[in-house]
Amino acid sequence: MDAPIHPGLPFVGNTLEIARDPLAMFGRLFQRYDRIVKINIGGRNQYLVFRPEDAKHVLQENHRNYGRSPAFLILKRFLGEGLLTSDGDFWRQQRRLAQPAFHRQKIALLGETMVQESAAWIDELAQHDLTTPVNTSQAFMDVTMRIVCKTLFSTDVTGSDALDGLSNALDTLNRLANDSLLSPIKWPQHWPTPRNIRFRQARERVDKLIYSLIADRQRTGERHDDLLDMLMYAEDEENGRMSEQQLRDECVTLFTAGHETTAVSMAWTTYLLARHPDVLARLRAEVDATLGPYAPGTLPSIAAFRAMPYTLQVVQEGLRLYPPAWAMSRMALGEDQIGPFRIPKGDTVLVSPYLLHRDPAHWPDPDRFDPDRFLPEQEKERPAYAYLPFGGGPRLCIGNQFALLEMQILLALLVQRFDFQPANTRLVRPKPLITLRPNRPIELHLTARP
Ligand code: HEM
Repeated sequence: MDAPIHPGLPFVGNTLEIARDPLAMFGRLFQRYDRIVKINIGGRNQYLVFRPEDAKHVLQENHRNYGRSPAFLILKRFLGEGLLTSDGDFWRQQRRLAQPAFHRQKIALLGETMVQESAAWIDELAQHDLTTPVNTSQAFMDVTMRIVCKTLFSTDVTGSDALDGLSNALDTLNRLANDSLLSPIKWPQHWPTPRNIRFRQARERVDKLIYSLIADRQRTGERHDDLLDMLMYAEDEENGRMSEQQLRDECVTLFTAGHETTAVSMAWTTYLLARHPDVLARLRAEVDATLGPYAPGTLPSIAAFRAMPYTLQVVQEGLRLYPPAWAMSRMALGEDQIGPFRIPKGDTVLVSPYLLHRDPAHWPDPDRFDPDRFLPEQEKERPAYAYLPFGGGPRLCIGNQFALLEMQILLALLVQRFDFQPANTRLVRPKPLITLRPNRPIELHLTARP
């Protein structure tokens, strides 16, 4: 049976409707259709699924029938054949090589760097004029960038023009990729449109930087406890080590995938906490009981952060309400069947964590911020794939444990030092670019705790 079709306009289909407000459109579709709906975006047929079991089917059970959708092509221009954008045997080989770098013990090692960088960043925050509000969206972008640079390259970003340029380049990419995904007209990549020129310049800046970091390592032979070291020396019996190009692609991918997602999520989580003093008070009680009061010069151990279940629940609930990866897409490599509905070869299936995370069937009163939803007894009640901020199946986010630990550390250290309140009463809405950004800066008033 064919899936129900959401009516659209001639030629552009549903492109204008989705470009205006994708989340509102998804919400309307969820109300109006049961299980699945077919829409047309930028000339392509896409099937939006509403049930966790159908997300599981696409991402896990029948994952071999689904490849990267054309949406990834634009990312490929920048990320190359890195883990996020590659497919098939090449992806499998790269994932095998990279996986050990994200082993729990390695993450704990990288966690020590996260603690040092977070503590240094908080010291700097404390020296700011605290009577003016802090733009958390920007501040978290700075610290997650520092953390990803240190854990990836052991490089200090402060004062580095090249690395500041990297952040701007990624920002350009985010906007360009988004415009290009929603635009019904696809200009060839080699045409010198202003968009293509900006894109190429951003890529060139980033490449220059990453290749020089790799070359320095190769020249000096220095070893470091960082991700670049683990990737450089990872070896496969059949294919040996990664080439420079592969290393470049994986580094840019980890950098891109690893910093904005975490920053955006931290901004949302602190936004929620500032509006829920009861949750903030419970969080603070756990942090105080585990870490004790702030003592200059001493840094808590990773074990301490892992012993704070409520802090983790707060992070998980923030990721539920505002999942940075708000939609994932896959292209059907062969015809498939989702329940009774036919998915033709070459069409795209969309899975939206944002929608699934707000389905009242699995999340009572879904818009309420309630970290107790992640108590083990409540988690038990929910079907798999009702919660998927990190995706699922073999393409599950490789950095999920990295990200969760980083957010726990940042949150606990912030709460240990500061009390925070919203700087204004304006509602902030999610703005779905490639990640789910806030539509205006999230500003908070920080007050140093006695
Ligand atoms: C809150 C933070 C993060 C969120 C919400 C997030 C979310 C996701 C999601 C949903 C996917 C799957 C995409 C798909 O299947 O289409 C993914 C993949 C990926 N993520 Fe993350 N991520 C986060 C942090 C990180 C970090 C910190 C890193 C690295 C340090 C990272 C590296 C990657 C990579 C390399 C992939 C591709 C994996 C593969 O296909 O083999 N992510 N991420």
